[in-house]
Amino acid sequence: MDEAIGRDRTVAVVGTGTMGQGIAQVALVAGHPVRLYDSAPGRAAEAVAAIGARLDRLVEKGRLDAAAREAAAGRLHAAEDPSELADAALVVEAIVEDLAVKQRLFADLEKVVRDDALLATNTSSLSVTAIAGGLRLPGRFVGLHFFNPAPLLPLVEVVRGFATEETAVTRAYATVEAWGKTPVRCADTPGFIVNRIARPFYAEAFRVYEEGGADPATIDAALRECGGFRMGPFELTDLIGQDVNEAVTRSVWESFFQDPKFTPSLAQRRLVESGRLGRKSGHGWYPYAEGARRPEPHTAEPAPAPGRITVEGDLGPARELIALAREAGIAVDETEEDRGTRILLPGGGQLVLADGQTSVEFRDVVYFDLALDYRTATRAVLSASGTTSRETVREAIGLFQALGKKVSVIGDVPGMIVARTVAMLIDLAADAVAKGVASAEDIDTAMRLGVNYPVGPVEWSGRLGPAWAHELLDELHARVPTGRYAPSLALYRRTYAEMDGA
Ligand code: NAI
Repeated sequence: MDEAIGRDRTVAVVGTGTMGQGIAQVALVAGHPVRLYDSAPGRAAEAVAAIGARLDRLVEKGRLDAAAREAAAGRLHAAEDPSELADAALVVEAIVEDLAVKQRLFADLEKVVRDDALLATNTSSLSVTAIAGGLRLPGRFVGLHFFNPAPLLPLVEVVRGFATEETAVTRAYATVEAWGKTPVRCADTPGFIVNRIARPFYAEAFRVYEEGGADPATIDAALRECGGFRMGPFELTDLIGQDVNEAVTRSVWESFFQDPKFTPSLAQRRLVESGRLGRKSGHGWYPYAEGARRPEPHTAEPAPAPGRITVEGDLGPARELIALAREAGIAVDETEEDRGTRILLPGGGQLVLADGQTSVEFRDVVYFDLALDYRTATRAVLSASGTTSRETVREAIGLFQALGKKVSVIGDVPGMIVARTVAMLIDLAADAVAKGVASAEDIDTAMRLGVNYPVGPVEWSGRLGPAWAHELLDELHARVPTGRYAPSLALYRRTYAEMDGA
């Protein structure tokens, strides 16, 4: 019962738009007979033709042999009526994202399919439990959340609804794994894994922008060139569509009863209202018209390198800077003095790793942002305030330039850009693990494969040390006490458990 569904068994796909076609192609290439049904007349037949054309392209590119393509085509059929899905061992639904419509569809399907058929929804934002709520046999109902384009992206979130039986989860998991996908298990919570944990990647960037801390191009460059992310949040949401991205954010926020950790962005709201939806409308955060110039990130003019610096205490995640400075010919004195961790510049100013405090609270402090890897990062991000002398800012710029980095200077943003984004991702991941949403390993897999993160948040947290995100969020929470930055109970527990164990 909990083994993968046999390849000779029929897979039905209901709703043959973007996702339905992709999922059908995956099941078909894996060897199943596939039956397609769509309520719009003619749509299923069009999908059969579209999938056939896609298989032809795979043959042309040498990724599928011609005989396999012919055999696949012989296994793919459009159904005129749901009654033709009666022998399906698995039905995957990918219709319109509307709870009542999905509930009605499954109530009808349950009258047609056998009692041992597995039923699955590809919903990205509705409760799997709610879709199955009225079913006679909700135990065989799971979420199978594929990512677009389904034939190319390996991740599938296998979602266990409140009434889902373990055997159904195991069977669905084994089936998509046999299709060559990388499944992860997760509980039925808003946004599942990826759409829940990824929220701050967008939201923190939008907040820094709303606070006047930096412009979109600089924030994108910080997350890409310093944080190691494949794309920045502004360019990525332009690609996804601002309306689509905002709808996910709002849905997760509403589903969590307006938890401030998930509050949407007013700036993004206005963007959507103005019709600037991203690439598809020719304008989003950035312009996309023919010949439109993409704004450049702020990059500081060349400044002289300091000849000598002093490092006080342990730089922690930024320790590599010591070796980099020495390799660049800068003399580095190290002292164990316990006045906090900092780099002292020749003019007496200080350089401190982003910790959630603001520069204006101190005399002559420049903050620098967290990097995924200080050696390979091509950009360093600094933040200064009115209490920072120009000389200190110039020395800090010169130091990072001497290490071969471009340098961006942003406003006095507590937690800066990369550090506060990563701290929030770590917090949400720790919270999700503690609440049984998914295992730490599955969360990391989902974030790497679903949204291309350079490392999963749990692994990143391990690299930074147990207390790092907790301490940064504590400081941020003290300055922005909306609840958004309050460290989760999971982070508190982990910090104190590790301190105890140490
Ligand atoms: P789509 O609009 O491309 O296709 C939906 C299809 O369902 C249409 O062909 C429509 O005629 C058909 N349909 C609507 N009501 C129906 C009914 N009652 N019975 C049978 N067919 C019906 O939509 P898309 O983008 O493929 O999304 C489908 C589902 O997949 C939604 O639940 C969506 O949230 C989810 N999803 C979408 C992703 C995406 O990137 N587009 C990614 C992951 C999940």
